[in-house]
Amino acid sequence: MRALLCGSFDAAERDDWLQALRQAVPEVGWCLEPDPEVEVAVVANPPPHQLQGLPRLRLIQSLWAGVDRLLADPTLPPDVPIARMVDPAMSAAMAQTALWSVLSLHRGFFRYAEQQRSALWQPLPQRRADEVAVLVLGLGEMGRRTALALQAQGYAVRAWRHSGGAHAEPFEVGSGPAALAPLLGRSDIVLNLLPLTPATRGLLDQAFFAALRPGAALVNLARGAHVVDDDLLAALDAQQVGHAVLDVFHTEPLPPEHRYWRHPRVTVLPHAAALTDPRSAAQVVACNLRALRGGEPLQHLVQRERGY
Ligand code: GLV
Repeated sequence: MRALLCGSFDAAERDDWLQALRQAVPEVGWCLEPDPEVEVAVVANPPPHQLQGLPRLRLIQSLWAGVDRLLADPTLPPDVPIARMVDPAMSAAMAQTALWSVLSLHRGFFRYAEQQRSALWQPLPQRRADEVAVLVLGLGEMGRRTALALQAQGYAVRAWRHSGGAHAEPFEVGSGPAALAPLLGRSDIVLNLLPLTPATRGLLDQAFFAALRPGAALVNLARGAHVVDDDLLAALDAQQVGHAVLDVFHTEPLPPEHRYWRHPRVTVLPHAAALTDPRSAAQVVACNLRALRGGEPLQHLVQRERGY
C-alpha cells in the first residue's frame, strides 16, 4: 500500500511525522509527493488542490482533530472517506489545559499574576469547586473527557451540544439551540470545545455573551471562528465577560496589533492547548490503515454533511 504524507508543516515537523509513521506502519510505502499509486493520504491541513488527481485514493486520514480547514477545500475528492484524529494523548492534553484554565479562573490565579505586576498583596475570597458552574460546549471525545476531568475535581459541570440525541452522562446535558441560553445563564465558566461547522461558526456572538451571567469567563480551546471578536471585546469591556482564555483565533499566529494581546483580562495561548503527538497519533493512523487493508470498519469517520 502506498501512502502520501502532506500538510502545512515545516521540514522538521514533516520528518518527525514520517519517522513516527514509518515506525508505526513499516509495511506501507510512504511518499511526500502525490503519485497515481497513492491509496491513502495522511494529511495535516494540506494546501488546497493537493488531493486532486489520485485515482486510487481510498482514505484521507487527518492528523488534526478538527477537519474544518480540510473540508473547506472545494477540490477534495467527494467520495473518499475522511477520518479525523482521535488520539487519547491529545484528549488528555486538552483536559489538562481545560483544568488549568478553570482552576486559574476559579481560584483567581490570573488576577494574582496581575497583582504581582504592581506588588499588590491581596488574597481573594475562596469558593469551593462545587460552587463554580462550568458549562462545556461540545460533547465529542475531547468535550466529554474534559467534562469528566472537571467533574472529578468537584466542579458543577454541565454540557451542551448543538445536536444529538440523549446519551446517559454523569452530568446534565442540554441539546439544541433552544437549550443554550438557559444554560449560559447558569454558568460561571463556559468552555468551548465544539467542532467548527456552518452551524457553530460565529455562535459566540453578542446574543451569546448577553445570555451569560454577568462577569462569567470564557475559555475557547476549539476554533477562533466560533467567536465574533468585536462582540467578545465589547462584552469584556462591559465586564459582561470577566476573563477570556483564548487558544485559537481567526488569524493564526494572532497578529501583533490585535487587542487580545494586551487586554488585561484576556489570556492568550498560541494554539497549544493540545498538540498532536506524532508517537501516539501514528498508532491511531496505523489502526486505520490496517483496517483499510483488512476490509474492516474504519474508525472516526467524518460525516461531511455534518461537518465533523
Ligand atoms: C487542533 O486544533 C486540531 O484540530 O488537531
